[in-house]
Amino acid sequence: MSAVKPVVVLGIFNADAVYLAKRQPKIGETVMGEDFKLEPGGKGSNQAVAAAKAAGPGGAAHIITRLGRDDFAKMARAVWSDAGVIPEVTEDAASHTGSAFIFIEAATGNNAIIVAAGAGGRITPGDLEARADLIRGAGVFITQLEQPIEAARTGLRLAREAGVTTILNPAPAAELDDALLALCDFLTPNESEAELLTGIPVTDIASAVSAADALLARGVGAVVVTLGANGVLYRDRETQLHIPVINAGPVVETTGAGDAFNGGFAVALSEGMEIETALRFGNATAGLSVTRAGAASAMAGRDEIDALLAKS
Ligand code: RIB
Repeated sequence: MSAVKPVVVLGIFNADAVYLAKRQPKIGETVMGEDFKLEPGGKGSNQAVAAAKAAGPGGAAHIITRLGRDDFAKMARAVWSDAGVIPEVTEDAASHTGSAFIFIEAATGNNAIIVAAGAGGRITPGDLEARADLIRGAGVFITQLEQPIEAARTGLRLAREAGVTTILNPAPAAELDDALLALCDFLTPNESEAELLTGIPVTDIASAVSAADALLARGVGAVVVTLGANGVLYRDRETQLHIPVINAGPVVETTGAGDAFNGGFAVALSEGMEIETALRFGNATAGLSVTRAGAASAMAGRDEIDALLAKS
């Protein structure tokens, strides 16, 4: 059997400052919180950690990113070292390592996030060109939108030119041009991201299908709309699948659940799994992550994912 090619992630690391409270403050107001944690996060880093852990010893995950020269950068490197993520870092002393304010609603575990990308917001197309060989040798290239779009475009283009499978997780939501969408084998928006990209409010499966069709018409290869507790809706030009969530236990926190899905899905594609199996693998990775606190800290190992799939 040939070796599995690595998952290469472009994205940023954030130190997540996580506040648990009954509700968010209004402008000019102070509310008392119930808990605080400083946790590793950032969509790209979370996806790389999810991928490295889901791949296990048979695979590899790299992250292309920028870090400042500060304590949060040390936190990033420690997290990657623990998870087995291979860093491809440009150090950038002119800015800080990324950080995110995360409000967690105590009653539901749902979140609202502000990202200050810092050095991650200064990733350039040149950073990607410098890692062109790594990208060309990937099994899957995946990115998001916390770093500049032009860096994402360069990575997607390098991957596409080499025949590498490309995934764009369009988070946080942003307007995207058709040329960029056409570089994506898979686009993985959540409901609000799908709405921003298409103008179609996504509230159920039927509206997710309509949004997916609008994105297919703009040149995307296939669309996976992540629907939270309703699982995922997959649509390409021939196939439509609705894959429900895989329940791994009570929901503790949903931060990073989308990242868990994307990291797991990328690994499954890199291993050549059929699309339905790959979607279930992503759902199992996400299902396990929401049973634990934190984002990167909540990512599951391959043994746990395989065990959950075996009994589901
Ligand atoms: O997707 C969750 C992530 O979004 C958090 O870890 C936070 O850092 C933001 O990037």
